[in-house]
Amino acid sequence: MARSPRHLISLSDLDDGALDEILELSARLKRRTGRNELVGKTIGMLFFRGSLRTRASLEAAVVQLGGNVINLTAMSDFWELEEREGSVMDGRAPEHIKDAAAVLSRYVHALAIRPPQTGNAWEIDRRDERIRAWAKHATVPVMNMESSLWHPLQSLADLLTLREHLGDLRGQPLAVTWVHSPTPASPSAVHSLLHAALRSGMHVRLAHPPGFELDGTVVSEAEELGRASGGTLTKDLALEEAVRGARVVYARSWQSLETYANPTLAASQRSRHTSWRIDEKLLAQGQDARLMHAMPVRRNVEVTDEVLDGPRSLLYEQAANRLPSQMALLANLLR
Ligand code: CP
Repeated sequence: MARSPRHLISLSDLDDGALDEILELSARLKRRTGRNELVGKTIGMLFFRGSLRTRASLEAAVVQLGGNVINLTAMSDFWELEEREGSVMDGRAPEHIKDAAAVLSRYVHALAIRPPQTGNAWEIDRRDERIRAWAKHATVPVMNMESSLWHPLQSLADLLTLREHLGDLRGQPLAVTWVHSPTPASPSAVHSLLHAALRSGMHVRLAHPPGFELDGTVVSEAEELGRASGGTLTKDLALEEAVRGARVVYARSWQSLETYANPTLAASQRSRHTSWRIDEKLLAQGQDARLMHAMPVRRNVEVTDEVLDGPRSLLYEQAANRLPSQMALLANLLR
């Protein structure tokens, strides 16, 4: 009987052994040239939303391992896809994910998907139905390139960056804070970071304005991971409180899940918190604190130029680490 493919929808799809192996291999791959782990292999990448880092770094990772990429963008290279089981397809979508996944699995050795977000209701988007439909119907590994709930590829690079900067992560203080942006991201990167950090035994201090609480189930799961690893999560802090004593400050602007389906209300809610910005004075309250951010970052709105262009910023190292961590992941998944 054929073995089921290994998918990566969230970090929980990697056990502790696989996660350590990928991070150690990432560090080795940074130093090694002439790699050939993907020679003769093709990876299909499907984007239903824009991307700069994920698209470029994953494509570079495949090519640098000797493989090839088929890169497809929804609505320009192909059409809308239906994901509901048993639907009568008389609407806009002329093809079902079931058929697209089955066909593409015959051309490529793995599929990487950045699915769309409906933005209609968090209770629906949090189910990640589209990425799960791809994983259900593909017969090759499916990698999540950022769904509504998770961004596992970002968290691998985040863990690598944290390890490079701090060494053993157990007991290390990490501030995770919301920052203002007129175009906030989904909370996916922060959800994956919380799981990664709590699983690693870090002491996470979370700050955001009222109304910007993260997904309740994700937070409960993170707390559970902390109970097993010795990590802790302190919630509902003010910005300064979270940063005080932190070795690393991780900033991100995420959408309010309270006003998720109401852009007008969401904009008015956000406009009350424009002072949630990272500057040098704030970072000085940490323990020689460094700044991380998944990017894109709005300069002088989310973080000041002084911080971004100064010695505290780890942003370019963090973005650079997308490459070796994804090379290691590909080598692990396609072994
Ligand atoms: N951090 C991240 O995923 O960046 P992109 O959206 O540019 O891929």
